[in-house]
Order: sequence, then C-alpha cells, then structure tokens
Amino acid sequence: MPNLRTTKLGIIGAGAVGTSLAYAALIRGAADELAIYDLNPARAEAQVLDLAHGTPFAHRTKVTGGGDLSFLAASDVIVVTAGAAQLPGQSRLDLVNTNAEIIRDLMPRLVKQSPDAIYMIVTNPVDVLTEVAADVAGLRRGQVIGSGTTLDTSRLRWLVAEAAGVAPRDVHSMILGEHGDSAFPLWSNATIGGSPIREWADESGTKIFDDAKLDELANQAVLSAYSIIAGKGATNYAIGLACVRLVEAILRDEHMVTPVSTVLRDYEGLDGIALSVPCVIGAGGVQRVLRVPMNQTEHDAFHRSGSALRAVLEEIGQ
Ligand code: LAC
Repeated sequence: MPNLRTTKLGIIGAGAVGTSLAYAALIRGAADELAIYDLNPARAEAQVLDLAHGTPFAHRTKVTGGGDLSFLAASDVIVVTAGAAQLPGQSRLDLVNTNAEIIRDLMPRLVKQSPDAIYMIVTNPVDVLTEVAADVAGLRRGQVIGSGTTLDTSRLRWLVAEAAGVAPRDVHSMILGEHGDSAFPLWSNATIGGSPIREWADESGTKIFDDAKLDELANQAVLSAYSIIAGKGATNYAIGLACVRLVEAILRDEHMVTPVSTVLRDYEGLDGIALSVPCVIGAGGVQRVLRVPMNQTEHDAFHRSGSALRAVLEEIGQ
C-alpha cells in the first residue's frame, strides 16, 4: 500500500487572520485537513461551513472545527492566531498581558494532544509570545516558531521591487529583530538581481537607492500595519499568505530560508529571547538558525530590539 499519510493544519482563532490563513491553505492545497478552533463555537462552525462549501472549487481538503480543542488533535502544524488584536494607534506590545495569558493557557492543552506538532505563533506581540509559548510548552527547540518578520520582509521586498521595477522574488533583502517598531533592515547584504542594492541603477544609469530612500522604504515596511489597521481595522491577507507559505515549507520539508521568530542562543550577543533571524524552515520547524554578518548599525539595531523585548518579558515575569 502506498503511504497515504495525510497532513493536518490546526488553526487557533477563526477571526480575520485565522480564516485568511485557512482560505489561503484551501486555495493552495497546503494541507489535506484544516481544523479550526475558536472560543466562539458558532463562529468556528460557520467559518468551517463557509470554507467547506468552497472546497469543490479548490483543492480537496477536509475542513473541520468548532469550539473544542480536540478538533486539532494530532495536527502536524498548529498556527495560533487567537487573542486581542491591535486597535488603531495601539502598538503590538500593548497587547502583551491579555495575549500572554491566552498562550499560557492554550499551549499545555495543545501539546498534550499534538506533542509532535510544529507550533507557529502569530498572535502579537509575536516575539514575546513565541518565547512564552516555547517556555511553557517544553518542546524541542525549533518546534515553536513565531511568524516574526517574514511578513515585514515581504513588505520590504515588495516596496523595493516597486521602486526598482522588478519582481519581488528578485529582491533579496530582509527585515530582522522584533516584529514591531524596533524591526530593522539588513541592507548590508541586500541585493537586486545579484547587484548590491546601493549599486542598483535605473535604465538611465542613475543609482536610486541612497540612504534616504532606503530609510524611507524600511520605515514604510515596518510601520505599514498601522495605516492598514487605521483603514480597515486589521491586517489579515498578507499575514495569512505569509503563514501558509511557512506551513507549506514545514509540511513539504522545503528547507526554506526566511526570517522567523525563534528563541535565540548566544546570537550576536543575545540569548534566551525570541527575535527574527534567518532560519532554515522544514519538517522540524526551525531546522537551523543562520548567522548573518551585521555591520555596526545593524548590530546596534538588533540589540535595541532585544532590549525592547527583554523589558516586556521582565514586565510579564517571563
Ligand atoms: C501585521 C501584523 C500581523 O504586521 O502584526 O500585519
């Protein structure tokens, strides 16, 4: 008999982010089964039905869920999106007390029924909550990751691509550190089509990425969630797509390199704190944490991120 092992994606939270992820997973055929849990059973059941009704138009996917965590038993990947979301003008760190308690309550219950799953924290502040989840779960390193600056990096790549007139996939730049106000770009090794970004010239031969332009693009990428939240109340599509891409990399063991939030061990002088750095993502979750050269400006920004998050972790007794 062929190995017909099916893959199961569990999603905690049937709100805008969780269901955008579910919808993207359905369209991309990311997993054989989607199981969605929400504190509000009626909302979970309604989202499940609405998604299931679309499966004839998408990849064959079993969609289940409701108000009982047991729907997510034996998941391969569990994405946690539940919690209070940013209100207009609110920072991600403002959400920490409410959402840390949700993570501390959920993780032991989830791990009991899915001890081998890879856990992806999306709920903000994602770096702090990734550390809380990893701490309370007591799992193998790499089994708990945070979506981190994967999304910020995609925002930056899109912005640079728009300015350069190339496809985003041909822009190799990253945003690292906190998924939040202290995130920073790693311009020192950013390239477009193999050219260092500062050497990139338009068709007239004019170099278009000077320090002022790079600062402008980085700020736009790091702060764009605020304007989206002000305009429509929440962000959901890009984070849903970022998460489904990470889920695919895990379930297909792709060894994809992308920045995600992971608890660091003696990284650029930081230890025991979750921040986004480039990692190899595959069947084991974070399979490798990659060390990238940082210049002094980037090293200092990395430590500013670390200090900001360390202060919050101490505030919540972590
Ligand atoms: C954002 C949320 C996911 O940056 O923090 O859109």
